[in-house]
Amino acid sequence: MDIGSPQERGQWGSKLGFIMAAAGSAVGLGNLWKFPFLAGQNGGGAFVLVYFLILFVVGFTLMMAEITVGRYTQLNAIGAYRKIKASWAWVGSLGVIAGFLILSFYSVIGGWIIAYIVKAASGAFNTADTKMLGDMFTTFIQSAGAPLFYHGIFMLLTLGIVIGGIQNGIEKYSKILMPALLIMIVLVMIRSITLDGAMEGVKFFLNPDFSKITGGVILSALGQVFFSLSLGMGCMITYGSYLSKDTNIPECAFYIPLIDTGVALLAGLAILPAVFAFNFPPDAGPGLLFITLPAVFSKMPMGSLMGVLFFTLALFAAITSSISLLEVCVSYVVDEWNWTRKKATLIIAGLIFAAGVPCSLSQGPWSHIKLIKGKGILDSVDFVASNILLPLGGILLCVFIGWVWGLRRIQRISKTDEGKTIITWELEYTDALKEVTNDGKINFALAPIWVFLIKWLAPVAIGIVFIQGIF
Ligand code: PHE
Repeated sequence: MDIGSPQERGQWGSKLGFIMAAAGSAVGLGNLWKFPFLAGQNGGGAFVLVYFLILFVVGFTLMMAEITVGRYTQLNAIGAYRKIKASWAWVGSLGVIAGFLILSFYSVIGGWIIAYIVKAASGAFNTADTKMLGDMFTTFIQSAGAPLFYHGIFMLLTLGIVIGGIQNGIEKYSKILMPALLIMIVLVMIRSITLDGAMEGVKFFLNPDFSKITGGVILSALGQVFFSLSLGMGCMITYGSYLSKDTNIPECAFYIPLIDTGVALLAGLAILPAVFAFNFPPDAGPGLLFITLPAVFSKMPMGSLMGVLFFTLALFAAITSSISLLEVCVSYVVDEWNWTRKKATLIIAGLIFAAGVPCSLSQGPWSHIKLIKGKGILDSVDFVASNILLPLGGILLCVFIGWVWGLRRIQRISKTDEGKTIITWELEYTDALKEVTNDGKINFALAPIWVFLIKWLAPVAIGIVFIQGIF
């Protein structure tokens, strides 16, 4: 499937094909790397609880919204906004900037994953000294050259696939490798929760301590819902634009977040119990996955092999996400500036690589540089993109669909035989609603709730979290 070239627009082979591809974009480092470390930093169960609340109010709502806009317009994010209302095209551009920023640090972490495939293969996890495994990460990250080298390799892999066109295999491999990843995570999780002392970690992860819920925790959870579901930057608009007209949108918009959240929870249960069992600090931040999992593998039969397999599958999951990030930027330049696909991909990937260099260095040689709220460069870029740009894109999308494109309720006044007036409310059958229900062929009973969420609850909730989390 080639996502984004207007000349040869294809379509997903089947509903399953679309769900797998969209889940491929959603499931990635956000689930395996970011969710566990954010949970560790933000009070464990408290974070998970808030994440779930936001997922229900905002996640499902916006997933449907983006897919609907995409399928209706059959265009990339900017074209989609422009087609419905030209003066809104700039909102699509905001998404392109978010995609650029996210990929710049995503690729750095993707590079760490590649480095850990190599380390696992060379037998580096074969030791009983778990403390040493923690130090291995610190040493790696503090060197300037190796992380940059792997960051470059990750970008090259992403770029190669986007130039070649995504139809050559990704859909096919996804069907095998995604389930394989799931099996691996379950195995690692079982080992992790059966370690001595692991139950502390399970409790930490699942038992919410309400006193830990602060404005900052809620904002992180909000940003993570957007990041993990690939929402707020037009990615799902682009994917939705390749969806055939008879697919059931509400159904797809239900399964994708479900799969994504399932993987995140499993990853949390694979990592946090082990953190407690090995006495690692749960708030270690971006390094958490990399200090913890090697220690788990060292306690598994065939640990090196398991390590290689796990990190290879994680790399695959990361790449099915990074191509969707790069594709949003590339399709913008191809459509708007009329560049060739090859030129656009090469130049943008080069720029993103360059933007990733300071992110990478900020983990070692440049760790003294603090940009926002005492955060280093990588964390600051992540904060701006995930916690500001994506939620902002989300609010704008809600306003756009609910109020500009239009979702309305109309009042009907009728009289009974006795002359009593009865007022009822009905949803107006606008283009947006026609699209969601496939012209009335699907019985979407939750439509009134969805409309209320899009027009009122979701934008207001995002707005409140946003304002109180930032100030
Ligand atoms: N959802 C992806 C992940 O969890 C990251 C991503 C964000 C991809 C935004 C596309 C758009 O790894």
